[in-house]
Amino acid sequence: MSNYLEILMIMVALVLVIVIWSLSSVLAMIAKKVVEFSKTNKKVMMIIVVAFGTMFANQAMAQTDAAISDSTAAKVPTFYGGLSGTTFWTLSSVIALELLIVLLLVIFIRNLWNVLNPVQVIDKKMSKSWIIKTWDTLDKKFFTKAAPIEQEADILLDHDYDGIKELDNALPPWWKYGFYITILVAVFYLLKFEVWHTGQNPTEEYSTEMVEAKIQTDAYLASAKENVDEKSVTMTDGAGIATGKLLFAKTCVACHLSNGEGSVGPNLTDDYWIHGGTINDVFKTLKYGYPDKGMQSWQTTYSPVQLQQLASYVKSLKGTNPPNAKAPQGDLFQDSVATN
Ligand code: HEC
Repeated sequence: MSNYLEILMIMVALVLVIVIWSLSSVLAMIAKKVVEFSKTNKKVMMIIVVAFGTMFANQAMAQTDAAISDSTAAKVPTFYGGLSGTTFWTLSSVIALELLIVLLLVIFIRNLWNVLNPVQVIDKKMSKSWIIKTWDTLDKKFFTKAAPIEQEADILLDHDYDGIKELDNALPPWWKYGFYITILVAVFYLLKFEVWHTGQNPTEEYSTEMVEAKIQTDAYLASAKENVDEKSVTMTDGAGIATGKLLFAKTCVACHLSNGEGSVGPNLTDDYWIHGGTINDVFKTLKYGYPDKGMQSWQTTYSPVQLQQLASYVKSLKGTNPPNAKAPQGDLFQDSVATN
């Protein structure tokens, strides 16, 4: 057992034994199935005979192949790869025989498999599964109610237009139901848009969407220049302050009164500030608020630019001295550039 070729050949022979063993079990399994079917179906016996026939035809060919390879192998020198002629030829014969058996098994399995498969198809058709039965019912109910071609003569009407006759066949049910649904939708549509006027017609929808788009565009354009925060904020221009005044009148007067003189919220016109009097401080107060003190955060209500306008307006109120102003709160704040 010192020769590698010998070891290799023995290994191959052993592997082939395993292959033969597995193929035989497969064959046995398939054969058993075929026998079972042949009990119920007489035709199968015929097919098996045919299968055997092909097998022998194949075997004849395989033998010829083996014979050819044998004659070529005979020309190989007596000592081959360091093995004695006897050992080499014995092992070669074993491997060749095993290969032949494998070949035969494969052919046989293939033939029987071919026998078995059509049988399985026939068998399935004979005893319909519940899936097929359900499908048949559904099919009749929803998909094809039409008479089969063989029965078309029965439903052909007498009408004859120059040889063209009318076939009174049933429409596909799903299609008909679809048509009924469109009728219902049409009635509903008519009522909703023409009688009750609860929906928008396309023209109205269009103008609504245009308005919405305008709002969105404005918001986008506004946000494009909105990089103002409490650090970078500066006093805005006169137009900005005017806008701030409008926003203030809308939202802030409830607590700070119309002139900023203060009621619930502090007086915004004096030199005293609780949270600082620079434009940055005021902006910060508006942005984040002091919710626990009654002044909410406005950053979700107003954009940074609007906060800037509000803060600028608040700053512009300084020294306006409105009547009935609330008493100063907070610290005195001297802002030399308050009105820049
Ligand atoms: C619900 C009432 C209320 C509304 C509305 C309100 N505020 Fe105030 N505001 C307050 C109160 C209360 C304070 C004092 C907070 C504190 O004591 O810390 C305050 C404080 C302020 C301050 C800081 C004053 C300081 O002395 O530091 C500013 C500035 C201000 N508000 C501006 C506004 C602006 C601008 C609006 C509108 C966007 C507004 N507030 C809306 C109640 C309100």
